[in-house]
Amino acid sequence: MSEEQGGTIEGLLNETRTYEPSASFTSAANINDPDVYRRASEDPEGFWAEIAGELDWYEKWNTVMDWNPPWVKWFDGGKLNVSYNCVDRHIKGWRRTKAAIIWEGEPGDERILTYQDLYREVNQAANMLKRLGVEKGDRVAIYLPMIPELPITMLACARIGAPHSVVFGGFSPDSLADRINDCGAKVVVTSDGGYRRGSVVPLKDNADRAVENTPNVEKMVVVQRLGRHVHPVRMRTGRDVWWHDAIQAGNGGYCEPEQLDSEHPLYILYTSGTTGKPKGLLHTTGGYLVGAYLTSKWVLDLKDEDIYWCTADIGWVTGHSYIVYGPLANGATTVMYEGAPDYPDKDRFWDIVERRAVTVLYSAPTAIRGFMRWGAEHVERHDLSSIRLLGTVGEPINPEAWIWYREHIGRNETPVVDTWWQTETGAVMIGGLPGITTMKPGSASHPFPGIEPDVVDAQGESVPLGQGGFLIIRKPWPAISRTVWGDDERYVEQYFSKFTPDIYFTGDGARRDEDGYYWLMGRVDDVLNIAGHRLGTMELESALVSHPSVAEAAVIGVSHDLKGQAVAAFVTPRGNVEPTWDLAEELRQHVADKIGPIARPDRIYFTAELPKTRSAKIMRRLLRDVAEGRVVGDTTTLTDPSVLEDIKKQYEGTEE
Ligand code: PRX
Repeated sequence: MSEEQGGTIEGLLNETRTYEPSASFTSAANINDPDVYRRASEDPEGFWAEIAGELDWYEKWNTVMDWNPPWVKWFDGGKLNVSYNCVDRHIKGWRRTKAAIIWEGEPGDERILTYQDLYREVNQAANMLKRLGVEKGDRVAIYLPMIPELPITMLACARIGAPHSVVFGGFSPDSLADRINDCGAKVVVTSDGGYRRGSVVPLKDNADRAVENTPNVEKMVVVQRLGRHVHPVRMRTGRDVWWHDAIQAGNGGYCEPEQLDSEHPLYILYTSGTTGKPKGLLHTTGGYLVGAYLTSKWVLDLKDEDIYWCTADIGWVTGHSYIVYGPLANGATTVMYEGAPDYPDKDRFWDIVERRAVTVLYSAPTAIRGFMRWGAEHVERHDLSSIRLLGTVGEPINPEAWIWYREHIGRNETPVVDTWWQTETGAVMIGGLPGITTMKPGSASHPFPGIEPDVVDAQGESVPLGQGGFLIIRKPWPAISRTVWGDDERYVEQYFSKFTPDIYFTGDGARRDEDGYYWLMGRVDDVLNIAGHRLGTMELESALVSHPSVAEAAVIGVSHDLKGQAVAAFVTPRGNVEPTWDLAEELRQHVADKIGPIARPDRIYFTAELPKTRSAKIMRRLLRDVAEGRVVGDTTTLTDPSVLEDIKKQYEGTEE
């Protein structure tokens, strides 16, 4: 553990406030029997099998879990279809006319899809994909804004057994091309654009640039979200088709869901790691659905009466599991919003909550801190009395933000669940059960039933309560990603080689307090968490050095009030390049163009040299010390200790 993480956690551990659920919340909660923890830990396989039984299977599994560390299969031999479970099974009864998706566009337009509507659209889209040549096992890349066609395409892919790879609409053409090539998608589904903070996001233009470098793409389907008068796009004959034309070309109707093996690939989702380019985590069918389904039911307590809103983008795993698959598997009503929280005004979220009577809200610490800064007056203009449960995910939540969330959004009444998990884990791993757990602000509380995390030292030994260490998971769980697409070795190396092959290493640090509550302490590797978005330092550094003026670059995360972390880049310009303010600006833009606007460095510092060990390793730890104003640690291994003094002067000179 680094010193700075220890420092933060000391502050957190002084937090003594506790919040019990009200008796009325507990009595109505989907799960309120604390004995569930004991049952699940005594017989995890029996526990998960019982839950899997709540889904619809064409064929039952032979083995619940088949574990050959680090490889695992869940519900092997079973056959099911995710789209059937999320859509078809709900239209057999009264839920047919229930709202499945309440969608709101940024300009204020809306679409409400009942389960019957969703069923029809998913069937049509599945038939369309088939006509375009997509077969079971083929990959489909999805690069869409937050519009209903996004979940519809995902479910259509799931229906025909074609794994999808959703690429967040904020990613650049290069990032999109890398992902398309890595997963070998032959069809891309995009739109003429989307709206964000009143501007147009030109997705089709980006996709056009991306597919210049993706030889395997045969077809591009384009949803018309904006229209020609707002943003015309070019359609390439033979390759591009409009969604509305392609959908109508067939006779609509039913598309028989494929009966898929429990381990059939459902989707690939790219996320940043410590080395190289983002990796495509593969999630499969049965286990993933069981995880997303049960955690939605128990942690988010989703019931038929709820209007549930997760404010994430479907381009991230949170949207996959908690806007699409988890809620729909439960037959819930899920709200989808296209745009920014401050458009047209800073009360947009509360306006949506009030008008839609949202009951369960799942958001992120960075958003909550933003709302705090904007001021409670934007909240107070609205009636939020429909809200009964709040959730948060994505980064550690500071107790002040937790308390503000509960006071201002939850009327000082509702439970707040802080949920820790990752793209790799597929579903919530640590987070209270709102009808059972006494919450402590800033702590993700306890592992979900059946999940067995631990906090260990560098040797893999459990540390005593009260101490910090590496967060690991000791046993497989159904929703764990099965591999890195096309790179088993990287999967093993990244997650199962720090200790023994049966231990999953999360990359996070954590501490358990005397009561056994988990307090997450952030990443312990070279992964940054910028406003809840995951970025690798390597990725950022290679974007910087791809600029002709840059010789070398080192990137670190520095703490930031609003975003949790911000990107600080230390750059050595090439030979006779002048380090100017304009160049710094150009480099920031260059990174945004290469990766996407979320990766734009907050600060660039020019330095004639970077601090390196004698074996030429950049010492980021020292850069972090400088950036966070700490006494600089041991510099005896540096080739040239004066380098650091220069950087320090630079840094202090530019500090606002
Ligand atoms: O560092 C942890 C942080 O986000 C990382 C996972 O990022 P990603 O795969 O993008 O998934 C985000 C949404 C599931 C983790 O390694 N993280 C996520 N949730 C929390 C968190 N850190 C502290 N508390 C959380 N609740």
